[in-house]
Amino acid sequence: MTMIIEWTPELSVGNDQLDKQHQQWIKLLDDFYEGIKQGKSKEVLEELIIGMLDYTRYHFNEEEQHMQRIGFPNLEKHKALHAEYIKKIEEYHERMMSGRLILSLEVTGYLKTWLVNHIKGEDQRYAE
Ligand SMILES: [Fe+2]
Ligand SMILES: [Fe+2]
Repeated sequence: MTMIIEWTPELSVGNDQLDKQHQQWIKLLDDFYEGIKQGKSKEVLEELIIGMLDYTRYHFNEEEQHMQRIGFPNLEKHKALHAEYIKKIEEYHERMMSGRLILSLEVTGYLKTWLVNHIKGEDQRYAE
């Protein structure tokens, strides 16, 4: 089974716990992607998107606490980026439930690109 994205050391933020969270986050996005690809029911896809959303919230919260602890500058800007992503997933969820969005690989493509760019472009700024 090909993964939509694979965690490689290139994505490391120099913190074991946060690296593990990123791996889990990637896995949940991948499960969602697989679900769409396999044409799973709306119920199953909803469960997957909610699971991913919950974990994303959890991870962002943990990461923001870490950044606070190490005195990372521009935390507010980083928090705003996190909030934007959460809003996007919530919006997909809502549109999917009201039948206004056919989940496609385009949706996961957006989520994936954001995730990778965020880890590389933003998260890695707090890496020691
Ligand atoms: Fe982040
Ligand atoms: Fe992160």
